[in-house]
Order: sequence, then structure tokens, then C-alpha cells
Amino acid sequence: MKQETEVVVLKELLRQLDEGRNVDAGVRYRVPTDAYVCPELAEQEWSSFFQDHPQLIGLSGDLEEPGRYFTTDDFGTPVLATRDDSGRFRAFLNACRHRGVRVVSEPRGESRRFMCPFHNWTYANDGALVGIPRERDFGPVDKSCTGLIELPAVEHHGMLWVHPKPDGELDPAALLGDLEEELANWNSGSFVRLGETVIEGDLNWKLANDTFGETYHFQRLHKETLGQLFYGDALAYQTFGRNHRFVFPARSIDELRDLPESEWSTDNAANVLYYLFPNIQFNVSRGQILVIKIYPKKGTPGRSLTRIGYYYSPEAAAAMAAAEASGARVIGAEDAYDVDARDEATILGLEATREVFDSTIEQEDYAMGERAQQVAENGTLTHLLFGRNEPALHHYHNTFREALNLPPLERVD
Ligand code: FES
Ligand SMILES: [Fe+2]
Repeated sequence: MKQETEVVVLKELLRQLDEGRNVDAGVRYRVPTDAYVCPELAEQEWSSFFQDHPQLIGLSGDLEEPGRYFTTDDFGTPVLATRDDSGRFRAFLNACRHRGVRVVSEPRGESRRFMCPFHNWTYANDGALVGIPRERDFGPVDKSCTGLIELPAVEHHGMLWVHPKPDGELDPAALLGDLEEELANWNSGSFVRLGETVIEGDLNWKLANDTFGETYHFQRLHKETLGQLFYGDALAYQTFGRNHRFVFPARSIDELRDLPESEWSTDNAANVLYYLFPNIQFNVSRGQILVIKIYPKKGTPGRSLTRIGYYYSPEAAAAMAAAEASGARVIGAEDAYDVDARDEATILGLEATREVFDSTIEQEDYAMGERAQQVAENGTLTHLLFGRNEPALHHYHNTFREALNLPPLERVD
């Protein structure tokens, strides 16, 4: 984010905190609970948003050098993502051209050749078919046109984008729209991948997404966890087409009051969360990026899968490694919410970050989502209400609906 934008956003947060008023969308909406349980809607979402829409599958740090690869089945199409010997990011249908077996079953690793386990046809990391056992018996195969099916794949500002259809249109600049330059400025291409948390929950993927859509619950549900580190009831919110920017204040935002604006930064003062349609929460703070990908479970509207990828700037990763090697105090999971410890310690360890996410997302946010899912499935409660202080919820749901040619949510003034 440009520093001048950071100042505007931080001023807005300080204004809300000073006035004791949260963001105001000026409107409320009713949302039908059916949106979380309807099988036909779930099928439409799956085919439009996951089977026929570009997917952000990771950052450049997932394929840190030629020869690295990873696989994903999260959006239905089995994908093998590689960095080929020339350093180019490629994506292929992870399916053997002989009898369709998934060629690679490991989640990630390093290999320049991939051998299908069934009859050992072998492919290179640029997709080329390079080996067929006993080809004389099998019959001749034109290897020049029997490589893995290639999918559109673009590495753009450090983000790895794939389209699940071989002839799909993939234009990341168009997807990011007016957020493009701002996202480019975070330099996510240089970030190092340090790990992943996976959460499978009994809640619709939109309910999972909704938990990232307001700060109203921070000082209630997260009073003893995230609420120790962040103020609730304050939000600098802006939409960018189908995407949005959602910034909420850390308690340390108050330290800015004594600094000239030229020194203001969101780094220690706020948490910046971008939503990228349809299923990505992209969280940036203190040399760290969390890519949160939320997927429906096909055919089961009440279940979803969330992957949280942890990425660190080279400086932050090096500092963390150096602190651990030198025996310096690294904040671990047990001190994740200890503000004093955070002030004193040299560095926040990965486990502390994971603890924050595990305890707040899985045990608190998603626990609420699972209860709401049960009520939605019962059907007696037909509608929910999105408040004036929950503008991201308005935006998600109206965007999903608009993308599926459904009428917008019903306004409640
Ligand atoms: S199915 Fe892959 S080699 Fe036969
Ligand atoms: Fe939450």
C-alpha cells in the first residue's frame, strides 16, 4: 500500500476509535439462510466459481526454484503445478494420458520427472511425455502431442494463478483491477513459504468466508484471544469491484498519535486483509502474508475446507531463524496473546501466529459458523440480518449473487 493510502486508512481508524463508532454502510440487508444449504445453489457456485473461474493457488514461494512442484485437488480439477527447468510456472491436469490415473499424489516436493504409478508412463516438469515402458508392445504413441494437458497458468506479482479449464481465460490484472498496484507493492513474490494449516469444517464455505467479514465480534467472541491484540468495532473498508480491502486496528495504533504522519505505517498499527473474489482472504502484516483459501466440498453445502498458507519476507524469515539459532526469546504459542511478551521479545515465532489462527479461526469463528450452519439446515429461521457495521458481508453476498444472476439481497434501512 502506498504510504499516503496508509495514512488515509489509519486516520479513518483513529477517527472511528475516537468517536466510538464503527464503520457505517448506511444500510442493512436480510440474507436467506437457504443460501448456506441449498444444493442447487451450491452446485451453481461450484461450477461457476471453482470449475470455471481463475484460482489463486499459492505464491511464488510455493515453487521456490526450478524442479519444485505441488498438487491440489481443492477446486475439483486435479492440478499439478511446477516450476520447469527454465524457471517458468506451469500448471497441468494431474491425469495420465494413458488411462487417466493421477500421476502425482504427493502434495509437494522436488522432481523433474513424474512417473505414473499404474504403467509408469513418465512426464517431464514441462508436461512432456518422455517415457513409455514397452512401447513396442503398446503401439506407437506420438509423444509430441500426448503430454500432460496444460492449464492456463500465470505468475503475476508473486501470485500463482491457474484456470481449471484448458481453454479458460486467465487475466490476473483484470481480476485484481484497481487493487493491482497496491498488491504488487507488498512484494509477495519474494516471500518464503513456512507452512500451512488445514481446517475442515461443518459449515458452508460462505459462512467460513463471513467470519472474515466484520470486526463487530472481536471484543465479544475473541475477547480473550485476538481481541487482546486488536481493537474491534472499527474498520477501514473499501471495495474494488468484486474484491475488497478490510483494515482493522491493532491496539498499538495508539502509538501513531505521537509520530509525524510521514512515519505512519500499517506495519505495527493495523492488519490489512484483502478479499479476492471468490474465495481468497489475503492477509498482510509485519513481513508476513497469510493466504487463506476457502473451498466448498462438492455436493455437501454444509462442509468446507480452509487452507491457511504462511509466508514470510526473506528478512522476517531470516530474523526468525537467527533468533531461534541464537537462543533469543521467540514468542511461542503459549504467549501468543501476551502483549507485554510481544513488546519484549525479539520476534514472533511461526507457532505463535499459528496459535492465533488456530484458536481464533477454528475454535472460535468456525465454531460459530458451524452452529449457524446447523440452524440454517433446520430451516425454521429463514433469514439473517447483516448490520450497518458489516459492509463486507453485504459485499460478498451481493457479489456472489450478482455473479450468478440472482437478485441482490433485500435492503433493510
Ligand atoms: S494410467 Fe498412467 S501409465 Fe497407465
Ligand atoms: Fe473472527
